[in-house]
Amino acid sequence: MSGTSLDGVDAALVDFSAAAPVLLRTFFCPYDDELREQLLALHQPGHDELNRAAILSNQLSSLYAQATAGVLENTGIAARQITAIGCHGQTVRHCPETGKNYTIQLINAALLAELAQITVVADFRSRDIAAGGQGAPLVPAFHHAVFKHADHHRVIVNIGGIANITCLDHHQSVSGFDCGPGNLLMDAWCSRHTGNTYDKDGRWAASGRIIPALLERFLSEDFFARKPPKSTGRDLFNLHWLEQKLCGDEAPRDVQASLLQLTATTIARSIQEHCPAAEEIYLCGGGAHNTALVDRLTISMPGKIVALTDQLGVAADWVEAFAFAWLAHQAIVRKAGSLAEVTGAKGNRILGAIYPA
Ligand SMILES: Nc1ncnc2c1ncn2[C@@H]1O[C@H](COP(=O)(O)OP(=O)(O)OP(=O)(O)O)[C@@H](O)[C@H]1O
Ligand SMILES: [Mg+2]
Repeated sequence: MSGTSLDGVDAALVDFSAAAPVLLRTFFCPYDDELREQLLALHQPGHDELNRAAILSNQLSSLYAQATAGVLENTGIAARQITAIGCHGQTVRHCPETGKNYTIQLINAALLAELAQITVVADFRSRDIAAGGQGAPLVPAFHHAVFKHADHHRVIVNIGGIANITCLDHHQSVSGFDCGPGNLLMDAWCSRHTGNTYDKDGRWAASGRIIPALLERFLSEDFFARKPPKSTGRDLFNLHWLEQKLCGDEAPRDVQASLLQLTATTIARSIQEHCPAAEEIYLCGGGAHNTALVDRLTISMPGKIVALTDQLGVAADWVEAFAFAWLAHQAIVRKAGSLAEVTGAKGNRILGAIYPA
């Protein structure tokens, strides 16, 4: 998995031989600054796009192969024993809306199959969009399979570049959607003003003060008022979006504090509006380590248990990678990976294109 935060590649080794999947091992390959910059640049129209996208797809695929080798190292498990690599690719455009109906994840899956000598499942989102869906979020089906409880009403919140929620109500079907920015605006602002790729533990944000008028301008974005199904990405939430909301005289740390509150408020409001009866809120994704953010979220949802998915047996950092292994497995056994009630598609679909070893 390589998500919208552009931090790197998460590899998870998962065993599906028992009734419940088991996460055996994990490995992380960070992106260097140059790769991150080149990927960021491809999110906007620019010169020589097709060539740059193809070159980056090759580079990424080498990194995906390294992550695969890394997760298998010293396990005694050989490549030929692996059924498949599920590889999401790196999103550079996500335009599910009518008239566009496409999403682009950079990957050269043929090259990855060749380098790793393992079958690759890639391009998970296109089929759902072809069936009229948002192509995102795709993790709710996995959350449902792994985290559902017969009596407890749970919500799983993934705080990656974008934040998404899955509502696991014991009475009803599963629902879920993207609620808005997770870390990506905080990361971009932090990087511009401090040189750090992210605000560790939200300390810089915690040193600032929320600017109420700015927070209101953030919250007036139409996306937040839209009803699900909905999904979003850097196409909407980026530095340009942020700059348009600024007066220009704000202290950078106060902007960071306001961005952190934006993430907390939009997640809390989404839960309040769509799963008010939820008792337990479990956080995952890198944003779950942002202690200032978790504090704000906890304050925003009084009376609810707020904890990390670690409490459910899967470390917060590895839920997404585990999910894409699960989605690949669904594809291999010809089972649907999407949930039409989440994405808005005409029906559940088997997701992904298979590149045999
Ligand atoms: N200690 C920490 N304090 C604050 N933020 C953190 C910390 N650790 C990780 N993060 C944030 O988490 C991000 C990485 O999260 P993650 O890998 O879940 O996102 P992602 O790659 O966008 O995933 P996806 O899009 O699949 O949800 C970093 O960019 C950073 O913003
Ligand atoms: Mg990541």
